[in-house]
Amino acid sequence: MANQEDNLFKNVIAHAKEYGFIFPSSEIYDGLSAVYDYGQNGAELKNNIKEYWWKFMTMLHENIVGIDAAIFMHPTTWKASGHVDAFNDPMIDNKDSKKRYRADQLVEGYIEKLEEKIEKEVEKAAKRFDNFDRTMFVSTNARVLEYQRKIDDINEKLKEAMGSGNMEAMKQLIIDLEIADPISGSRNWTDVRQFNLMFSTEMGSVADDANKIYLRPETAQGIFVNFLNVQKTGRMKIPFGIAQIGKAFRNEIVARQFIFRMREFEQMEMQFFVKPGEEMQWYESWKEKRMKWHKALGLGDENYRFHDHLNLAHYANAACDIQFNFPMGFRELEGIHSRTDFDLKSHEKYSGKKLQYFDPEDNQNYIPYVVETSIGLDRMFLAVLSSAYKEEKLPDGSERVVLRIPAPLAPNKVAILPLTKKDGLPEKAMEIMNELKFHVRCFYEEKDAIGKRYRRQDAIGTPYCVTVDHQTLQDNTVTIRHRDTMEQERVVIASLKATLIEACSINNILKKI
Ligand code: GAP
Repeated sequence: MANQEDNLFKNVIAHAKEYGFIFPSSEIYDGLSAVYDYGQNGAELKNNIKEYWWKFMTMLHENIVGIDAAIFMHPTTWKASGHVDAFNDPMIDNKDSKKRYRADQLVEGYIEKLEEKIEKEVEKAAKRFDNFDRTMFVSTNARVLEYQRKIDDINEKLKEAMGSGNMEAMKQLIIDLEIADPISGSRNWTDVRQFNLMFSTEMGSVADDANKIYLRPETAQGIFVNFLNVQKTGRMKIPFGIAQIGKAFRNEIVARQFIFRMREFEQMEMQFFVKPGEEMQWYESWKEKRMKWHKALGLGDENYRFHDHLNLAHYANAACDIQFNFPMGFRELEGIHSRTDFDLKSHEKYSGKKLQYFDPEDNQNYIPYVVETSIGLDRMFLAVLSSAYKEEKLPDGSERVVLRIPAPLAPNKVAILPLTKKDGLPEKAMEIMNELKFHVRCFYEEKDAIGKRYRRQDAIGTPYCVTVDHQTLQDNTVTIRHRDTMEQERVVIASLKATLIEACSINNILKKI
């Protein structure tokens, strides 16, 4: 991460703590690595993101329903899903720095550097030539072609090592590429070992192996095991989807970067059950829909891109990520996977229960194929928070930190602020608040100068401030201040409700999709 981005990320993290968005878990005991708590403003923002996703999935699609499955599941679930045998990350330690890394991520970091070199060549050439043609340049420039050849070669070897679980080949790749520990610069590596990411615990009072259960590492399996329950009780016809929001747990080897990679996190997943053979068309359709859902929020179209998976998970026949431009660069925000019939077929085998759909049109039974969309709620939170965070210089020379959170997602929609604590202004302000609070989330504050109060609201992303002054008592008008432009206008109190509902409704974003 470049220094400037590094500082920006540090400021975002500090701001999230100072303003009640995110606290380290059990902080009085010095925290717990890669586990975080959401504060009073964070919980509101998180709930609003959930609502945006849930409404999109279950209200805008008449063929998608939502469930809420338990975190604990029968242990055979994880044998059937492949997680017991294959949910591993390759782990490597540096003997000098004693730091632990994911071996595949070290290699991917090396590839990223080569990609950056290509981008630098492209930028240099674009400056030199007027009618610059990027496609032509990258397909003919000798240096770029050499970098690209190297990237393809490394990717091939990485895919081979990961696919076959050949950890010696993985280590050899790191040695051949002369990859050094990013912190110490040392190349003194241990062997690469496979590490299973599932947390386990015991159920019941006897702690023997038979009672070993897992904290779910993905919410998806709660959907697969309920596939027939939902299909039958909901009389669902293929194609249809089941959506779910819930906690997942992974014992991540490298859990840095704040809430980007956590050990306890939340997923918003949807499994879309389709007729075999139709999965690729649904895969493309869900890629497009999910990208539209993201872009409709207005965080900047340029901050998103697709990234196809080269190393497919054990269950997928096609997969890609929607990457977001986080402070540390473009990283995975959401995964879209064509999971074939792997999960249902495997649960059929392990449970001995039929998990098939009778298609009345074709008059035949089959195991449906599945297209999955899976987004981390905490990553989505980080995307919103980091892109909203702005340090601004104002025309009068002063500075402010503002969270330009899309109004429908903001923790509070409006702050009601009496100009002074006397002359009946607080009572009038409370009267307005008591009317508005049934429609939008309000915040009331009467302490400190009005300018200071505006700044505090800017810092938590409140899109509107309503100021009640002496004129209000005479003509029932108030000042409404807009967070982003800082403009103020005089409006009648009677118009507030409609204005705020209109500007802060999640439906307004949903209508754009
Ligand atoms: N059911 C498929 C599945 O779980 P995944 O790519 O492993 O696929 C899906 O995870 C999404 O969950 C990711 O795109 C990411 O947003 C989020 N996610 C995964 N691991 C995470 C972690 N350790 N911390 C925070 N979010 C995570």
